[in-house]
Amino acid sequence: MKVGILGTGPVGRALGHGFVTLGYETKLGAREAGNPKAAEWAAAHPGLGSAGTFSEAAAFGDVVVVATLGTVLPQVAAAAGPEHFAGKVVIDTTNPLDMSRGFPPGLAISGNDSGGETLQRALPDAFVVKAFNTMNNGLMFRPHFDGGPPAMMIAGNDAAAKATVTRLLADFGWPALDLGNITSARWLEAMCIAWCMVGVATGKWDHAFQMVHGTPAAPSVAD
Ligand SMILES: NC(=O)c1ccc[n+]([C@@H]2O[C@H](COP(=O)([O-])OP(=O)(O)OC[C@H]3O[C@@H](n4cnc5c(N)ncnc54)[C@H](OP(=O)(O)O)[C@@H]3O)[C@@H](O)[C@H]2O)c1
Repeated sequence: MKVGILGTGPVGRALGHGFVTLGYETKLGAREAGNPKAAEWAAAHPGLGSAGTFSEAAAFGDVVVVATLGTVLPQVAAAAGPEHFAGKVVIDTTNPLDMSRGFPPGLAISGNDSGGETLQRALPDAFVVKAFNTMNNGLMFRPHFDGGPPAMMIAGNDAAAKATVTRLLADFGWPALDLGNITSARWLEAMCIAWCMVGVATGKWDHAFQMVHGTPAAPSVAD
């Protein structure tokens, strides 16, 4: 399996490092050929790592990761060529952050829509799975968490695509928790803002969400 990554930022480079470490040929794509971050990343990952454009990375990957600015997904899809994604699993790591009022950010898309749904509409023949959007990039590959690994919450319309992503996540050190179809990207992207607020409150950026289950001390109250 080959992996194409659209995005030369911290997420693209961190996930690229993970995929190469796992033995996958991986191409990191940028808007323009010759992007210095992509070239530097490829040079640091000789053999399996290479650099290219969004279009070249999308065409290269059997699985494609989108790790770009989250407010420009239609433009990213158009630049990459939607035909290059047909029938492929696409991992959407993005958040449609609105930084116009500074930090913490708001969401440029929210409520009855999401970045994940926007990407799925732009790539109608692909199987988009939201993942990796609610933790720091430094924790994306084989992290250590006190108390064990938290869940990677994912969302997407296609069960087989989510099964593929679940297997990849296991190799990355993350158990997956399926939140349902791609409309659940609405809640995962909102959780990114909650994640930022925890960082603001604690001054730490090493946190991740975990789902825990409890035993009630008394029967639940119902009408
Ligand atoms: N940073 C984190 O730890 C983290 C964690 C979880 C999720 N996320 C999400 O993951 C995504 C990637 O984050 P990041 O911090 O790695 O990088 P980023 O700075 O948000 O995005 C960098 C990438 O976006 C592309 N880009 C920027 N402006 C663009 C435009 N107008 N049109 C098309 N492409 C454009 C850049 O292209 P070039 O390569 O050509 O410069 C670059 O590849 C974001 O949506 C972010 O919210 C980030």
